Amino acid sequence: MTKRKHKREKAQLFQALTEQVQSPPADHDAPIPEQALANLPGLDALASSGGLPKMKKFRFQLMHEWILHRLPPGRVADVGGGKGLLAYLLQQSGWQSTVIDPVAQTLPDKYKDLTLNRRVKIGAAETVPHITQPFAPEMAEKFDLLVSMHAHGCNVQLIDVAAAEQKEVILLPCCIIQEPLLPAPGQHWISCLVEYALAKNLIVEPFRLNFRGQNIGLYIHAAPENTL
Ligand SMILES: C[S@@+](CC[C@H](N)C(=O)[O-])C[C@H]1O[C@@H](n2cnc3c(N)ncnc32)[C@H](O)[C@@H]1O
Repeated sequence: MTKRKHKREKAQLFQALTEQVQSPPADHDAPIPEQALANLPGLDALASSGGLPKMKKFRFQLMHEWILHRLPPGRVADVGGGKGLLAYLLQQSGWQSTVIDPVAQTLPDKYKDLTLNRRVKIGAAETVPHITQPFAPEMAEKFDLLVSMHAHGCNVQLIDVAAAEQKEVILLPCCIIQEPLLPAPGQHWISCLVEYALAKNLIVEPFRLNFRGQNIGLYIHAAPENTL
């Protein structure tokens, strides 16, 4: 590498780091600009957001619905699952669910069933198994699917797990916190994750959930063996 190129790359890295440090606190409600996702490999076929009437607080129900339509029940980890509503809904639908989150929180006492359009109570005695630790790749062994919605510190690790252990992974990326990878200057975080996954020969299927905000999901998995 020439000295000039090395200097330019260092300057770009410094600028990216400075922007990270100086950027305001992550806004989980901020919509992803369409422009930021333009020309992204694999995202071209994604339908435009159009009207997104549902509120962000229903994202667990929408993710639950998406999973039920796409995947047969199995063992799922809700990584960075917070209060664990997604894990709970999946458990109700026949999945063997676990929350992996260093912060222990109790389930909410109610949620809205979007199909029946009514509130449903969650009994005080109801629980979902919880691993109260930061996610680590060795935890993936016990699961078929690892879902991470707006979670911190585990997006890149989960892509590594999808590649190394042939696990299915669903990411709904949000802010970049404690990740070992930074987007190039001007690159969107989602685009950076897609590139990282494609470089590991993984299949990336993007989708959009019907709420306003950070609503792009990435279903990431290994290619079926006969297509390799
Ligand atoms: C923005 S909250 C998202 C919670 C929930 N998934 C949601 O969509 O509301 C980020 C969560 O990531 C968890 N978290 C932070 N570092 C983590 C790590 N290394 N591994 C797993 N979870 C982590 C936090 O405790 C927090 O519950």
